[in-house]
Amino acid sequence: MNNIILPGEDDTIISTSRLTKAFGNLVAVNDLNLRVMRGDVFGFLGPNGSGKTTTIRMLLGLIRPTAGHAFIFGMDNQYQLPAILRRIGAVVETPVFYPYLSGRDNLRVIAAASDMARHPLNDKRIEEVLELVELRAYAGLAYHAYSLGMKQRLGIAAALLTDPELILLDEPTNGLDPVGMVEIRRLIAHLAQQGKTIFLSSHILHEVQQVCNRVAILHRGNLIKQGDVADLLRQSEYILIRMNSAQEAQAACQVLQEARERGAMWIKSITGASNGIGKQRIRAGAAGEQDPAMLRIEAPAARSAEINALLARHDLFAAELHPYQGSLEEAFLELTATAQFPGASAVSGWPALAPLGKVPLEGEARQ
Ligand SMILES: Nc1ncnc2c1ncn2[C@@H]1O[C@H](COP(=O)(O)OP(=O)(O)OP(=O)(O)O)[C@@H](O)[C@H]1O
Ligand SMILES: [Mg+2]
Repeated sequence: MNNIILPGEDDTIISTSRLTKAFGNLVAVNDLNLRVMRGDVFGFLGPNGSGKTTTIRMLLGLIRPTAGHAFIFGMDNQYQLPAILRRIGAVVETPVFYPYLSGRDNLRVIAAASDMARHPLNDKRIEEVLELVELRAYAGLAYHAYSLGMKQRLGIAAALLTDPELILLDEPTNGLDPVGMVEIRRLIAHLAQQGKTIFLSSHILHEVQQVCNRVAILHRGNLIKQGDVADLLRQSEYILIRMNSAQEAQAACQVLQEARERGAMWIKSITGASNGIGKQRIRAGAAGEQDPAMLRIEAPAARSAEINALLARHDLFAAELHPYQGSLEEAFLELTATAQFPGASAVSGWPALAPLGKVPLEGEARQ
């Protein structure tokens, strides 16, 4: 028997190997390789119907994969499911509670139905989880009188009763108002501070951006990206500059390109941009008309001052300059634009793809 543990291997909490689920002809999850490490707040992202719930159901052993394997805590869930489930708390779909029992009594019913009934700390643990999900003040209120956010948090409280190492949450903020969303985010951050590993699915990109350290992006059952949120955001950083005229934009483009040729490789590209500048959400190229005085520079937002100084040295003074930090939405756009499978751009409810215009260089015809 080989007992060698590879470095870091014991810190892998979830790993899936070519996990696949087909419903008839529909491949809901295709060849999925996920890796979630201890302490991650892992965002499992994708538009509606992309296979998130199907994956979570496979992880929990609620449905069998058509092919592939899921390993949790290093154990294959096909063979060691009970041992795995003892260490997991999960909320998938809307949990069922007794409407006329209070939140606290509902938790007592759940605790009594599990091994916890024999646990001396049972009642104490119920109060702890109520405190954790900020429901202590409402613990005596009947479940049917709870708001949607409170119901959602009671579901999470139930999942936390056994003090699990890994918490799986399928769309925990679905249907919640902004206040409810903030409460859930706060709860997730709090659980993460306690060292829990959290795997949550969502189709709301900007929300995940605020709470997760790692993400996997699913699209029609295919994994299109898995990685650190910070890295993804860095990839979609850019700087928008509006010059005072199209001629000045041309000249600025020239200066920046020369700087790049001289070694400023942090200027990744220079393209034209649409006139969305100054609006609340700037998504260059995605909305508004192409503005011939405007440039979109693919470069770290922190380099803005450097770019400004460079242009000023050539007597080019930007009318406006906006460093843009990027978002998961933009990262998604970039990723799906280059994805290898058909229909990547037509995702309902998610940002539509719009190619950026290229600034014609000197000598090229401008329309
Ligand atoms: N039991 C089933 N039988 C047939 N098709 C199914 C079944 N469950 C899911 N599907 C299909 O599999 C695909 C993936 O569904 P899934 O529910 O996993 O997506 P999702 O990413 O969770 O979407 P949402 O954001 O809407 O919750 C969808 O096309 C769905 O219709
Ligand atoms: Mg779902």
